[in-house]
Amino acid sequence: ITHHVLVVGSFNVDHVWTVASLPRPGETLSGHYHTGPGGKGFNQATAAVRAGASTTFVCALGEDLGGQLARALAAADGLDLREHSSEAPTGTAGIYVDHDGRNSIVIGPGANADLPLAHVQAQRDGIHAAHVLLAQLESPLASIEAAFAIAREAGVRTMLNPAPADAQVPASLLALSDVITPNETEFCAQLARHVGERVDASTVASRDDDTLHAWCRRLLPHGTVVVTLGAAGCFVSHADGALHRDARTHYRVAAAKVQPHDTTGAGDAFNGALAASWALRPDAAFADHLHYANRYAALSTERAGAAVSMPRDEEVRARFA
Ligand code: RIB
Ligand code: NA
Repeated sequence: ITHHVLVVGSFNVDHVWTVASLPRPGETLSGHYHTGPGGKGFNQATAAVRAGASTTFVCALGEDLGGQLARALAAADGLDLREHSSEAPTGTAGIYVDHDGRNSIVIGPGANADLPLAHVQAQRDGIHAAHVLLAQLESPLASIEAAFAIAREAGVRTMLNPAPADAQVPASLLALSDVITPNETEFCAQLARHVGERVDASTVASRDDDTLHAWCRRLLPHGTVVVTLGAAGCFVSHADGALHRDARTHYRVAAAKVQPHDTTGAGDAFNGALAASWALRPDAAFADHLHYANRYAALSTERAGAAVSMPRDEEVRARFA
């Protein structure tokens, strides 16, 4: 059975408090609370399936209410769930969001830290049958790297979202990635680690394109780097002769104009939609996929929550018709 996108990643139950300002040490605040499904892996898998791609999600869940929530949501969306059942509790995230949309997040990895290498290796046929393999860094590196190596055996496209920014990305994992999609902070973290270039994340969007392209080429000489820039859209840098089906080696794609309400999971929306578009339309120009992913992510920010805010493909097309 072929399918379009296979995601290896995390599921978290998000606990979100909206507060006037982020809490300081010793401070007690009260704020509006909501809870819902999240985790970068699950958010991206939900985006991919709602963008129209048949999608498999490989993850680890606890035998608890969080695990039941993941199973119920996956079934409702037609997401093919390949779970490892862990003795650890399902992953959690505590998220504070202030009125400027800034956030602070604490992750309790729980079962996500327990995604076994053997469980990923058992998905070999599924990985080989995918068009695009997508992963983030909220799961054990050894398991992610094994999935990428398996994808490479069969020429399956690999996409790495190197998030969160404090995750260590080994050079061996970069070598197995066709596309990486850091945000500005993650881009600077990887530049410092792999290129020895110290760049202030707040200056990335205003750098000239040739400088950004040169850094990207040193970071991922063989592949494509997509730097997401929030409301400024994204910058993309391709290797010569890479997969872009476009004469340009580097360019920006503007973000779609919306009134953001909740940006939690916006990067995940972008990644899931990009993987889906690329898998569904492999012969289209890469810029078209980025354009779609920008619109998809923009629409997700008009809705509250992480996974639950992912729009359906027809909603994206109607909104930006
Ligand atoms: O990218 C947003 C996600 O990061 C949240 O849903 C939270 O669970 C954390 O994994
Ligand atoms: Na949202």
